[in-house]
Amino acid sequence: MIDVLKMGDDRLLEEANPVIEFDTPQLHELVSCMIDTMRALNGAGLAAPQIGVGLQLVIFEIAENPRYPDVETIPLTVLINPVLSPLSEEMAEDWEGCLSIPGMRGLVPRYTRLRYRGFDACGNEIDREVSGFHARVVQHECDHLQGILYPMRIADLRNFGFSSALFPGPA
Ligand code: NI
Repeated sequence: MIDVLKMGDDRLLEEANPVIEFDTPQLHELVSCMIDTMRALNGAGLAAPQIGVGLQLVIFEIAENPRYPDVETIPLTVLINPVLSPLSEEMAEDWEGCLSIPGMRGLVPRYTRLRYRGFDACGNEIDREVSGFHARVVQHECDHLQGILYPMRIADLRNFGFSSALFPGPA
């Protein structure tokens, strides 16, 4: 578990560098630290720049949750040096949050269908075609590698606010 940088920190605005060496103890240590942090904070994903490491490395996971049986699950994925290619021009808006912007949500347009390629921490190739929430999470995390935070993509800033105000419900 390590501190996640908050919006306003310059390091979140930098472009990340490619990982050159795979399957090193340092890389596995970094990945393991990021997984612990993401899970401890109940995040869906985390990008290395969010913990102050300027490398093209993201992780994401949507575990099965008995409270939300209808939510699509995503296997734990470590994605390094990612390349994203939309499979159509179609975009859709949905609510996003970010561990660097705690307590807030925004309505963000994203491509609905996507191919992504990259490598895992051992250097094995990853090549997937995904849609829906999986595609959204990948786009959000990979934006962090370009120094882009989701509020920069919100089409109408009236759709940006505190979760507690946007979605009041039984506490
Ligand atoms: Ni984020």
